[in-house]
Parts: sequence; structure tokens; C-alpha cells
Amino acid sequence: MFITLEGPDGSGKSTHINPLADYLKGQGYSVLITREPGGTEIGDQIRLILSDLKNTGMHSHSETLLFLAARAQLVHQVIKPHLKDGFIVLCDRYADSTLAYQGYGHQNDLEEIKILINFATGGLKPDLTLLLDMDVEEGLKRKAGGSEWNRLDAYSLEFHQRVRQGYHSLAESEPGRWVMIEAGGFEDDVQAALRRVVKDRLITPVGS
Ligand code: TYD
Repeated sequence: MFITLEGPDGSGKSTHINPLADYLKGQGYSVLITREPGGTEIGDQIRLILSDLKNTGMHSHSETLLFLAARAQLVHQVIKPHLKDGFIVLCDRYADSTLAYQGYGHQNDLEEIKILINFATGGLKPDLTLLLDMDVEEGLKRKAGGSEWNRLDAYSLEFHQRVRQGYHSLAESEPGRWVMIEAGGFEDDVQAALRRVVKDRLITPVGS
């Protein structure tokens, strides 16, 4: 099973992914955690270019292609082989981030981006996508308090609001794959909700 976590900046994906993996391991599953951009040596090098605050001149199409280059490497080197070996793969961001940020955020053509995503991933789609949804300003405040402030966080508030709305549209267009979780509340409540959703989905896969 391939599970992705999505959400606006500061929504807490990175906080929740480890305890969610521990829970699944406790249930006897083999679990791989990975993240985007990154997750491979090549992807981590691309991540540095993308997040570097001095790269303010980066065109949104270059940005899109760099995210996709990192993703292609991750899919082929890490995700597909682990899925084949029976792992549950938990990924902190995936293709929907590109649609939300480079598509809705930068207002680029979604259909063109979908074609590029298909090329990069060989058509690999998540079985389940967990959307950690929360107020954009709250999320950015949370993030600014941490250490990893980067070039992408520095985009305007309007950009981040379009990203959040984009996530809502994506979730509505594929309700069988997406589950939206309110992430502004207490950490323990959010984690409990995530576990509930994943547990239900492992018992009753979509389409069964
Ligand atoms: P990161 O520090 O990992 O943020 P987060 O913890 O919120 O995931 O930085 C990743 C940034 O890259 C984040 O702002 C979202 C952005 N992003 C895109 O714009 N497009 C993409 O395809 C991906 C994977 C990430």
C-alpha cells in the first residue's frame, strides 16, 4: 500500500509520519518512510537547489521540473521496489504537492503538469492520500518558529492560500483516494485520526 501525506506548510506532516509508521510496525507491517523532495542522494541534492533562499530567480517551470526529477529518482529507486517487496510506503508529500504548489499556487496549467507527473512516476498513484488541512497563516507561523524556513515558504500568503484551496479541489475530485483531516487541533487527536483512517483502509481497501 502506498500512502501519501499532503498539506500546506506547517500542517504537521513531518511530525505525524514517524508515530504513524511506528503504529503500523506495531501491527506487524513492514513500513518504509520517505519524503519529497529528497529521499535519495540525487533527490537530496535537488532539494538543496529548490530550497536555497538565494535561488529567487527560479522560474516556476524550472521549479516544477526539479521536483519531478527528484520524484522520478525516488519512485524508481525506492518506492516501487519497496512496494514490490510488500512494504507499506509512507511518503511525506508526492505528486499532489506539485499540482497544489506548482499548479494551483503558481497558476500553471494542471493538465500539462499531470502529463509530466505521469512521465516522472511511470503512472504510480497513491492508494490513500491523507490531507492535513489547516489555516494557512497558522501553518506558516508554526513553520517560521522552526529551523527549516526555505525559499518556498517565503512565497506570498496568497500563494499559500491558493495551495490550500488547490488541495481541497484535488480531494473533492478523487474522494475515494483522499481523506481530509483537520490538523489545527491537538497533536494527539490528529495522530489518532490518522491511525483510524489508515487502519480502516487496511481492513477495507477501496474497490473491495
Ligand atoms: P519542506 O521543508 O519539506 O516542507 P514541508 O515540511 O512542509 O513538506 O519543504 C518542501 C517544500 O516544497 C514545501 O514548501 C512544499 C514544496 N513542494 C512543492 O512546491 N512541490 C512539490 O512537488 C513538493 C514535493 C514540495
